Amino acid sequence: MSSSAPQAPSSPEPAPEPRERVLVVGASSGIGAALVRQLAGEGCRVAAVARRTELLEELAGSCPAGAVLPFTHDVTAAGEVPELLEQVRAALGGLDTLVYVAGVMPLVGAQEYDHGPDRRMVQVNLLGGMAWCAEVARLFVSERRGTIVGISSVAGDRGRRMNPAYHASKAGFTTYLESLRNRLEVHGVRVVTIKPGMVETPMTAEVDKLVLPITAEQAARATIRTWRGSLWSTRYVPLVWWPIMRVIQALPSRLFRHLEI
Ligand SMILES: NC(=O)c1ccc[n+]([C@@H]2O[C@H](COP(=O)([O-])OP(=O)(O)OC[C@H]3O[C@@H](n4cnc5c(N)ncnc54)[C@H](OP(=O)(O)O)[C@@H]3O)[C@@H](O)[C@H]2O)c1
Repeated sequence: MSSSAPQAPSSPEPAPEPRERVLVVGASSGIGAALVRQLAGEGCRVAAVARRTELLEELAGSCPAGAVLPFTHDVTAAGEVPELLEQVRAALGGLDTLVYVAGVMPLVGAQEYDHGPDRRMVQVNLLGGMAWCAEVARLFVSERRGTIVGISSVAGDRGRRMNPAYHASKAGFTTYLESLRNRLEVHGVRVVTIKPGMVETPMTAEVDKLVLPITAEQAARATIRTWRGSLWSTRYVPLVWWPIMRVIQALPSRLFRHLEI
């Protein structure tokens, strides 16, 4: 008769890390699409939001099956945000991170004063961002967790003569994000501002000369690293723009307005 010693109960397997569930608004091209590809490639679940459904579906098809869920939405329709956010949460099984990337920058002539394109820049770059960030802030405060990331720009640091409404929309978004950060920190919610320099994307395809350009993939990588780390709440991408913008911000307005920068 053989006897065997009682077996100690095996220790349970550590639970797998939950995959980050990310909502990218402005996901169909450029930096947004690169973010979606990188996040999906590392196992995250991503809701990809923009107007161009066919681009979103193509993007989802190029990523691991089921990782990317496309949602068609125009950010100027702010009234749709609460219901769409609920749909996104249900589809992803919750939400950890919002990245607001949507933006437009029509080329504006040196002596063009047209309220149409100006209004569109403010609606997409600023008001759309405020609508999404506010709705997600309410959710994250109730959960006492979560990260909100806004893609602003070096363009918000100073009013160049090139495109007044674009600069104003980005300055507004930068300030909005800072204010949101200051009110949300006590609730355990993180707000991160990304200020890219010049990035090779469809937005800049018609721009004559890009200064210190990087690719959309590089911008996306730096953005993800920034919100996952704890070092920066506002980060220039690439970092070389930080000293450059310190100098540009220090220039007196009287001098700045004469420079070709
Ligand atoms: N490229 C640069 O050098 C640079 C530098 C600094 C900051 N940025 C900022 O980075 C962000 C991404 O720009 P990008 O260079 O990647 O440009 P992009 O390739 O033109 O991408 C812009 C994204 O915004 C979305 N979008 C525009 N209008 C929208 C609307 N009404 N509703 C929903 N989505 C809308 C577009 O999607 P649909 O058209 O399909 O809707 C697209 O996915 C922008 O906020 C831009 O201001 C860019």
